[in-house]
Amino acid sequence: MAEIIDGKAVAAEVVEKVTAEAAELIAAGTTPGLAVVIVGEDPASQVYVASKSKKAKECGFHSVQHTLPADTPPQDLVALVEALNNDPSIHGILVQLPLPDHVDAGRIIQTIAPEKDVDGFHFINVGKLGTGELATAFVPCTPAGSMLLLERLRGKDLSGLSAVVVGRSNIVGKPMANLLLAANATVTIAHSRTKDLPALARTADILVAAVGRPGMVKGDWVKPGATVIDVGINRIPAPERGEGKTRLVGDVAFEEAEKVAGAITPVPGGVGPMTIAMLMANTLVSACRAAG
Ligand code: GUN
Repeated sequence: MAEIIDGKAVAAEVVEKVTAEAAELIAAGTTPGLAVVIVGEDPASQVYVASKSKKAKECGFHSVQHTLPADTPPQDLVALVEALNNDPSIHGILVQLPLPDHVDAGRIIQTIAPEKDVDGFHFINVGKLGTGELATAFVPCTPAGSMLLLERLRGKDLSGLSAVVVGRSNIVGKPMANLLLAANATVTIAHSRTKDLPALARTADILVAAVGRPGMVKGDWVKPGATVIDVGINRIPAPERGEGKTRLVGDVAFEEAEKVAGAITPVPGGVGPMTIAMLMANTLVSACRAAG
């Protein structure tokens, strides 16, 4: 049976370190500040945003949340982001995605000052990651957290290992592929148009599932001994828990995959907690840079 990778424990270690370093920065006169913006009432987004704001407070940060109605005019959102760009008490700005359809998410993301873009979605940060300028980039939190878990298991250098990333999103798939490449893995990005995905997945020493489809990656897609990173967070009905109840599952059919993999992240308790921990780490880095 596979080793179960305890993302919750690693995330707690990261948060503890961030909290300690934030305390030093605060004593020296700079309190890290994180602003989280949510537009509309998407229930999953509300849960994520609340936990980000709460964790920031636990780290001792100045934490502000802006909750805007779903019909907010795009120019109001632009104006809010610009105000946060100019607010010296704020070091990290996160606009929760997805945004309502009438808002051009790309325009909003590109309005965020790159030096406060703790999500790592601005072109400047995407470009730095793509060109290997990792020392000054902000790296998207979910892939960064996934890499930290991988590093614990397989070290920083993935030379000679093959990695398959299933999913090509800007938030996870593409930045994850770039990080794996920067760590010397041989990387393939697979997606819905890939031919014979199970066979390709079976070639992977490191298999990353980031597609948002519950249980899509089956046990027989996994190479024996592979490390499986399940980025999916899917809420599905769980009638066995009572009427109307739901539960979280990943993109990997966990019970099957854990019999084949060498190590695997569970859902919940794997990559999820790492995302928030890395957001705190990015915000601290931003505050340190601002403090000089
Ligand atoms: N929606 C899902 N994941 C993320 C994320 O990492 N950042 C933001 N801003 N929105 C998201």
